[in-house]
Amino acid sequence: MDLQNKIVLTGVKPTGTLHIGNYVGALKPAIELGHEVLANGGKHVMFIADYHAVNYLKNPEEMQQFTRQIACAYLACGVNPDQTIFYRQSDVPEVFEMTTLLTNFTPKGFMNKAHAYKAAVDKNVAKGEPADAGINMGLYNYPILMAADILTYGSDYVPVGKDQVQHVEITADIAGAVNACYGKQVLKIPQAITQEFAAVLPGIDGRKMSKSYNNVIPLFGSAEEIKKAVMSIKTDSQDINAPKNPEEILLFQIARGFCAPELVQEIEEGLKKGGMGYGTIKKMLAEAIATELGPIHDKYVDYMAHYNKVEEMLREGAQKARVLARPVLDNFKATVLNQK
Ligand code: ADP
Ligand code: TRP
Repeated sequence: MDLQNKIVLTGVKPTGTLHIGNYVGALKPAIELGHEVLANGGKHVMFIADYHAVNYLKNPEEMQQFTRQIACAYLACGVNPDQTIFYRQSDVPEVFEMTTLLTNFTPKGFMNKAHAYKAAVDKNVAKGEPADAGINMGLYNYPILMAADILTYGSDYVPVGKDQVQHVEITADIAGAVNACYGKQVLKIPQAITQEFAAVLPGIDGRKMSKSYNNVIPLFGSAEEIKKAVMSIKTDSQDINAPKNPEEILLFQIARGFCAPELVQEIEEGLKKGGMGYGTIKKMLAEAIATELGPIHDKYVDYMAHYNKVEEMLREGAQKARVLARPVLDNFKATVLNQK
């Protein structure tokens, strides 16, 4: 992938308590890619998609708390707001003007096919309820707002999880429809980047680690909380000395997703040979997690304690985002309205 002078944009929803699955699958790779594009003379744009969250999060205190947590988490994990344009979606009015324009180029059928809406409809139908029961227009229009997030900054690449690829494809189609309508490139066509290598980290019960399953190792837990979660990782009752296939051991899968290659190799060999007990491995894993996350945890606590500074960073970030957005939106407006 050629990152030279490109714009890489990442949006993150304010969600509840973060876990180490979010860290290895989302925070870490997004920040690493950000560093890479910046080193290649490009721009890294990263924002908290708070308006996207309104369709499912109507409690203002939670909204504020989750937004703060996610902002401080990304800063603690290494986002440098002097380099990355780091802001809150709701602080950039250009995005919402863009959304209004884009609705006029978006076939309604695209939205009917969008998976989050379809899943909600399927759930209703399965329960014997009217197809659109409890579905708001925020959910229905979710992909258009996301298209606005992406297109307003002329983004080239959008790193996302597999579940978001469809949204980026819809975005590319909407941009294509605009360009086809006016016979010129008004909006840049973006491309999704999926990090295939970022495997899904299993939780302590063996299902995907997820806050909805209550099976997480917390990202910002105390050393004690992390240890407690690691100690409860499900294990089997094979004899300690029996040679084991690491692929079948949950503890190994979690270690592989998180630990440095040398430690992963040590655990792998210990299991294959036999003699390395699950308790020992759990201790090694808990220590490795605490060592990597300790400094991040401290920074996170510090940012949370001085949130007014973070607020300032986000506001400054929004000003930079608006500078990037304005010409793109002005050009689009001028094209649509024949404004000079
Ligand atoms: P959760 O499943 O806990 O609700 P989210 O859906 O809020 O997590 O995920 C936020 C981000 O973290 C997404 O980009 C997702 O791909 C990533 N992520 C979540 N769980 C995992 C996991 N177990 N392994 C790897 N990445 C994950
Ligand atoms: N929809 C994304 C998610 O659920 C978050 C998001 C909003 C986003 N706008 C975006 C991601 C723009 C990438 C680009 O995770």
